[in-house]
Amino acid sequence: MLGRPALIVKFLGYAVVFVWGELKYALRAVAVRHRARWFGATAASDRTRNIVIVGASFAGYHVARIIARSLPPESPYRVVVVEPNSHFHFTWVLPRFCVVKGHENKAFIPYGGYVAGAPDSVLRWVKDRVASLSPASVELQDSGEEIPYDFLVIATGSEVKDGLPSRVNATDKSEGMKRMRAIQDGIEAAKTVVVVGGGAAGVEVATDAKDLYPHKRIILVHSRSAVMHRFGKVLQAAAQNGLERLGVEVILEDRVVNEDAAAGTVTLRSGRELPCDCYINCTGQKPASDVVSGLSPTAISSTGHVNVKETLQIADDGLPNVYACGDVAASEAPNPNARVAMRQAAVVAENILLAASGELPTHVYKTSWADGVIKLTLGLDRSVSYLGDGVSDLMFSSKDKVVTLMAAMAWSRMGQKPYEDDYKETAQEFVQDGGDTKTEGG
Ligand SMILES: Cc1cc2nc3c(=O)[nH]c(=O)nc-3n(C[C@H](O)[C@H](O)[C@H](O)COP(=O)(O)OP(=O)(O)OC[C@H]3O[C@@H](n4cnc5c(N)ncnc54)[C@H](O)[C@@H]3O)c2cc1C
Ligand SMILES: NC(=O)c1ccc[n+]([C@@H]2O[C@H](COP(=O)([O-])OP(=O)(O)OC[C@H]3O[C@@H](n4cnc5c(N)ncnc54)[C@H](OP(=O)(O)O)[C@@H]3O)[C@@H](O)[C@H]2O)c1
Ligand SMILES: *[C@@H]1O[C@H](CO)[C@@H](O)[C@H](O)[C@H]1NC(C)=O
Ligand SMILES: *[C@@H]1O[C@H](CO)[C@@H](O)[C@H](O)[C@H]1NC(C)=O
Repeated sequence: MLGRPALIVKFLGYAVVFVWGELKYALRAVAVRHRARWFGATAASDRTRNIVIVGASFAGYHVARIIARSLPPESPYRVVVVEPNSHFHFTWVLPRFCVVKGHENKAFIPYGGYVAGAPDSVLRWVKDRVASLSPASVELQDSGEEIPYDFLVIATGSEVKDGLPSRVNATDKSEGMKRMRAIQDGIEAAKTVVVVGGGAAGVEVATDAKDLYPHKRIILVHSRSAVMHRFGKVLQAAAQNGLERLGVEVILEDRVVNEDAAAGTVTLRSGRELPCDCYINCTGQKPASDVVSGLSPTAISSTGHVNVKETLQIADDGLPNVYACGDVAASEAPNPNARVAMRQAAVVAENILLAASGELPTHVYKTSWADGVIKLTLGLDRSVSYLGDGVSDLMFSSKDKVVTLMAAMAWSRMGQKPYEDDYKETAQEFVQDGGDTKTEGG
């Protein structure tokens, strides 16, 4: 059994291991870059073997970064990333930026910086969606192209059919920003806002909305006996107190069964009817594993996750060169998050580097209690960070000085200067041009 001091020491140890891991990759990338400069690198046309990565978010983008910057310059392998989104979607700030206006551009981080520094010939970036997978190739949705692979990484994450505030169900930045603004405007115009789902997304949206608009009625409906019920009691209580402090009405052990936008009402399973002129659904995330069903239906679990071995090869002995990591992979982690996705990504990348050089993939992912850490905002200026190992809990409260949370840090870590983006919003951007105002694009 662990006491709290032991938990603190363990957490610090975990942080040291994490920093060491990052340093190791950075040193290796520098070595590869120098070798490429002195001895040259395989030309793109001679890189005939593909490592295809499906999805470039926390998991897939990290795999791409590590492999592209670590492959020996004379390698015949190329990294092919297939990702439909124009930008990296920084999920952490979505609940906040669906409430607070004027920052939605910051949730969309330009791609590129995180894989910079790899020899140019190594990486092919394809903006498209994988429509289907076979044991030897992937087929793209828009172009119809079939790309053969030697190694495949499934990093398709989670999806929500209706999108925001949990996920952006639009591939282009301008459309994503437009949908975020629609939610902000909906909250601003409403008298009563009903938020469904007392997980992290629902608690964050409800507390932010009530903090920004103290005179509106904000109701949070959650099916279970406590909000944040998948975490320890200390976090459940902190979340409940955070909601009460601001005056959010919390309805527990009831479910929304119908929303009638025209009538402006929401009906609960108990029969209770609530007024509602802005409805925000914070439920319904599921693993995006549909694309795997044609490749290996038996590897898909009853929850829709892709079962994997400890090496993160998928649980299908016939497909040893196919890996899965991040939210889409079945894991014992109580709280799938970006940290888990990136730790798994590192294991996948190392295993593919081994296998590509003819060795056995021997790196394994083991769930760590520290993987369960979560930072939860409870209004515009405060948050709690929680960490539990099933026996002991640690929780820290903090004041948040910046409304944009960790957005600037995320841009920097992704190799982009906050918030510089060459991207132009197609429909809304106006450019001053010798006194004329013209619309860019269409
Ligand atoms: C609102 C919200 C807030 C969160 N806050 C935090 C937080 O503060 N800290 C934290 O650690 N975690 C947080 N998380 C969890 C974190 O976002 C996820 O664990 C993480 O995004 C998982 O990364 P992933 O790469 O596995 O998948 P995802 O982020 O889900 O990305 C999957 C990628 O695959 C692409 N894709 C899907 N299907 C295809 C296809 N067929 N072909 C090609 N590409 C495809 C998608 O476009 C997407 O880019 C939050 C989650 C949400 C919803
Ligand atoms: N700060 C952060 O780190 C952060 C922020 C947001 C999200 N995330 C992560 O993202 C993932 C998804 O989080 P989430 O908050 O979107 O989802 P979630 O954790 O699944 O929470 C949604 C909750 O809503 C309940 N629910 C579903 N339908 C309902 C209905 N009709 N009426 C009332 N309640 C209903 C669900 O309970 P039932 O099982 O009973 O249906 C579920 O507990 C999690 O891993 C989470 O940790 C992290
Ligand atoms: C919330 O959205 C999900 C999909 O995004 C949907 O399946 C679910 O029915 C919605 N729930 C409610 C209560 O509106
Ligand atoms: C995105 O979600 C909205 C509802 O929020 C829905 O109307 C729309 O069909 C979804 N779009 C896609 C492409 O899934």
